[in-house]
Amino acid sequence: SSSYPLSGPTHQHFSYSLCLAVEMLRSPAAALLRRLAPRLTGCSGGAGSSTRQSLPPYISSSSSFLARFSSTPTSPPPPSSVGARDDEAEDDKLQGSSSDSGARLSISVDRAGLYSPPEHSHEPSSDSDLVKHLKSIIKFRSGPISIAEYMEEVLTNPQSGYYMNRDVFGESGDFITSPEVSQMFGELIGVWAMCLWEQMGKPEKVNLIELGPGRGTLLADLLRGSAKFVNFTKALNINLVECSPTLQKVQYNTLKCEDESVGDEKRTVSKLCGAPVYWHASLVQVPSGFPTIIVAHEFFDALPIHQFQKGSRGWCEKMVDLAGDSSFRFVLSPQPTASLIFLSKRCQWASAEELEKVEQIEVCPKAMEITEQIADRISSDGGGALIIDYGKNGIVSDSLQAIRKHKFVHILDDPGSADLSAYVDFAAIKHSAMEASGLHCIMNSYCLFVLFMAWQAFLTRLVSVVIFADDISVHGPMTQSQLLGSLGINFRVEALMQNCDEKQAESLRTGYWRLVGDGEAPFWEGPDDQTPIGMGSRYLAMAIVNKKQGSPVPF
Ligand SMILES: C[S@@+](CC[C@H](N)C(=O)[O-])C[C@H]1O[C@@H](n2cnc3c(N)ncnc32)[C@H](O)[C@@H]1O
Ligand SMILES: *[C@@H]1O[C@H](CO)[C@@H](O)[C@H](O)[C@H]1NC(C)=O
Repeated sequence: SSSYPLSGPTHQHFSYSLCLAVEMLRSPAAALLRRLAPRLTGCSGGAGSSTRQSLPPYISSSSSFLARFSSTPTSPPPPSSVGARDDEAEDDKLQGSSSDSGARLSISVDRAGLYSPPEHSHEPSSDSDLVKHLKSIIKFRSGPISIAEYMEEVLTNPQSGYYMNRDVFGESGDFITSPEVSQMFGELIGVWAMCLWEQMGKPEKVNLIELGPGRGTLLADLLRGSAKFVNFTKALNINLVECSPTLQKVQYNTLKCEDESVGDEKRTVSKLCGAPVYWHASLVQVPSGFPTIIVAHEFFDALPIHQFQKGSRGWCEKMVDLAGDSSFRFVLSPQPTASLIFLSKRCQWASAEELEKVEQIEVCPKAMEITEQIADRISSDGGGALIIDYGKNGIVSDSLQAIRKHKFVHILDDPGSADLSAYVDFAAIKHSAMEASGLHCIMNSYCLFVLFMAWQAFLTRLVSVVIFADDISVHGPMTQSQLLGSLGINFRVEALMQNCDEKQAESLRTGYWRLVGDGEAPFWEGPDDQTPIGMGSRYLAMAIVNKKQGSPVPF
């Protein structure tokens, strides 16, 4: 930690990326930035501020809140490690690749007919509804389910999914996200959005779409920050894509929404800017026809992934099954699974060298699909999208993790009570955006062929025609600290510092550091295993824009 550029809770650390920021700050962003409201949300008692205001002023506990990337050496049992309980399948046990370090992997293979339910079910009656539901799916199929299906049920099952019935963020929740760390995050995304809107020619109507808004904090800060730019806020139609009814209500409150009736028509308006607000369960439901600005922060990491593992028989999918004692366990699929098609698609985008190095691959078909929807929309309506998430610009091997109450837990432990998320594969997002929808037909006709070839572990060279959408461009990824630095976070933090008391100043410094720092906190005084890690380099930003507007700031 001594190599960390910040040396203490003083002003010093703001010089950390100042040079970078000054150098890179382009004039449009700088001009907008100067006109942001010179206030801390905390001073005016805004909705999003209550959580952040209540944070202790000093770094002590506020920063021990876990962000959703796994990084600390003290983190949890490795995500893939299988519980030590599947003793009865001993002869089917398959060790992970020998190059993997001892504790890493031990997976038992369940051949299709192997599962036979115990004569009398000894299930503990304490099973949650979701656990019962998952078990019934597995029993009904008499076979394991994919990790993607498991993840989808756990997170978004309408009755008992993790996100559906509760507010999971912040101190009393399970993890913390950038907008909850500091108001500066949403404000700077607002600067990005306004720059894009200007590049789009200041259209009179624009669809501002946020995917997975959580508490709505990012958007509230964006709207407060841009309140002075009336022509921008007047143009906004706010569309929130949120599957959770509970979080929709939280967003309604955070955005200070009110229901109005205009004639016969009822609509909801955010009192933060006067713009109408609409909710949708998915992106395709958002009406198109207006130029569009899309923001997706920590949305893609919650989408269900498939995991594949290389073995002697080629690539196998890792699945979730029931052990004899009715607990969950991981197994490898004995047969080819339909989702191998996505693996082969992903592998086409990788170099032979990249593929050689990996024993496991995570693939997120839903991310590919939603990216294509984003690209299609931006291609037809104009505008752009900003995707920020923790992840990698390449194949992700084994990143699925579970977090409960700011601690890592086992993925199969009491599903529905912990957050599940995985690294976002930004290279896959880039390729999905670039490929036009014409690709689907071609892929489908190759389907059987691909399944066969995949099973032969012959994935690297697949013949296929790729059509590129030529009115879309993809930029990045760059790190979160590059993005926020270039959008002027150093100027913003200095401006806010002029107007606050010591307690708020401390929380600003802490927030600043969490957003753009990229190592362990140098002045941490809490328990070692809770040393907070900055989000500056583990979070990446990527923009997808219509070429009409040229390059988006600051890419
Ligand atoms: C990790 S939270 C991120 C929240 C927020 N963007 C932030 O940074 O604080 C993921 C959000 O996406 C929503 N979500 C997850 N899967 C979704 C899906 N398939 N469709 C729509 N929303 C989804 C969740 O309900 C939640 O609001
Ligand atoms: C806002 O829009 C009006 C009408 O289109 C225009 O006259 C005015 O100059 C705009 N204001 C700014 C600051 O661009």
